[in-house]
Amino acid sequence: MRQKSQKQNRAVQVHPPKSQEEHPPLSMLRDLILESAEAAGKILRQYYRGKLRIEEKPGAGLVTNADFEAQDAIVKILKKALPKFGFLTEEAKPEKARCPGRWVIDPLDGTTNFVHGFPMFCVSIAAEWNGEIIAGTIYHPILKESYLALKGKGATRNSKKIHVSATQKIENSLLTTGFTYQKEKLLQKEMQSFQKLSGIARAVRRPGSAALDLAYTAAGVFDAFWEQNLSPWDVAAGALLVQEAGGQVTNFRGDPFRIEDRAILASNSILHPALLGEISEKRHR
Ligand code: IPD
Ligand code: CA
Ligand code: CA
Repeated sequence: MRQKSQKQNRAVQVHPPKSQEEHPPLSMLRDLILESAEAAGKILRQYYRGKLRIEEKPGAGLVTNADFEAQDAIVKILKKALPKFGFLTEEAKPEKARCPGRWVIDPLDGTTNFVHGFPMFCVSIAAEWNGEIIAGTIYHPILKESYLALKGKGATRNSKKIHVSATQKIENSLLTTGFTYQKEKLLQKEMQSFQKLSGIARAVRRPGSAALDLAYTAAGVFDAFWEQNLSPWDVAAGALLVQEAGGQVTNFRGDPFRIEDRAILASNSILHPALLGEISEKRHR
């Protein structure tokens, strides 16, 4: 089940066939993603600041035995409950679906933080049906905070409704971003937008977990998040969270976000046009 290389994994993002078949009840998907995220979170808590086996993935950061064990725990629960669903998980080869459903999973988002003992990491699990994300959770195992979004039903943190911020101006905003592992490719562009927005916003943070950046944007902690060169498992649950919390999510061209887009801008929606103007691809040429 382990992947050989990140490149290989990205090349095979097979979409399940479209179908008229109804998806399993959202309540069932909710229970499954919450249960499996907690199981993974328990494993991550046990390894946190303890002994780890660490490997480097070329151009894709670190991976540890905790990433793999957390992934195995999630896959075991989900496979048993819905054996026809496919899988797109960061540390394994994609598995084809025998129905229109697929799980999109990052068993540990923020591995670098985890390895260094910085408590900013999470588990991210989303359920996709006919190419659309319909349920997602992000679980912070240290704070024991569980973010949940169900399509059309809003977003919650530990069962309490969350909403994006009402911040009206970039000058009053707290923004967040991330930098890719492929430094030669994008670091300069990333620095340009980081510098530009740091000069305008109240502050810009770079915590090191794209999924948590999105969860905190959904909860109104951050007013917006942008990053380029992400993968579907980094953003699948988080993008739905921001949308269901009343925010807007697009790529850097301003098109509605799809999980295959590498670049994401997620905001409280009020700041979206202004932020897009600052980070859009035109400015990156
Ligand atoms: C990474 C984190 C980080 C982001 C990277 C991601 P990982 O995921 O989300 O914040 O800047 O682009 O790859 O490797 O810790 O799962
Ligand atoms: Ca990730
Ligand atoms: Ca990961």
